[in-house]
Amino acid sequence: YGDFSPKIDYVFKIVLIGDSAVGKSQLLARFARNEFSLDSKATIGVEFQTKTLLINDKTVKAQIWDTAGQERYRAVTSAYYRGAVGAMLVYDITKRQSFDHMARWLEELRTHADKNIVIMLIGNKCDLGSLRAVPTEDAQEFAERENLYFMETSALEATNVESAFSSALKEIY
Ligand code: GTP
Ligand code: MG
Repeated sequence: YGDFSPKIDYVFKIVLIGDSAVGKSQLLARFARNEFSLDSKATIGVEFQTKTLLINDKTVKAQIWDTAGQERYRAVTSAYYRGAVGAMLVYDITKRQSFDHMARWLEELRTHADKNIVIMLIGNKCDLGSLRAVPTEDAQEFAERENLYFMETSALEATNVESAFSSALKEIY
């Protein structure tokens, strides 16, 4: 874009983690491109997308990394976390197991990522309220105990998606 490209003040790497099928890739698609797909395929390896936004008058480029929740498709762990300043720890509010696994994902994160990383716990698929298996209070309690930020989102309905990423970016900044 030559002279017209905006000056980037900061580049922030954010990683998405959580069990398979909780909606990590669709959260990213919603945030980066305002797209959503119901027949999303499981991620293999690593993908990333960027989105540039203004935070406190600074141009921030968010570089968001997405990997597979399934062990056999996962990226090399140390490389995935290297340089990350934010992490979105995603579970599905209709799948109790995906929430129960948050402790494990958090442990991996704390083993491999920088100790100052900003962590946001995300309960996705809040559009499926009638199938809810994880009470909001359980997640709030877990987040408080572990010092995480917390939000419920819906990639399908675009609820809180922008707000979850921008809150994380503001905390990083
Ligand atoms: P892996 O790549 O295997 O780790 O899975 P993932 O966490 O990236 O899940 P993905 O984004 O592929 O979504 C899995 C399924 O959940 C797809 O069928 C999505 O359409 C659906 N899904 C994702 N987000 C939402 C949501 O907010 N609400 C509803 N109802 N469905 C969603
Ligand atoms: Mg995926």
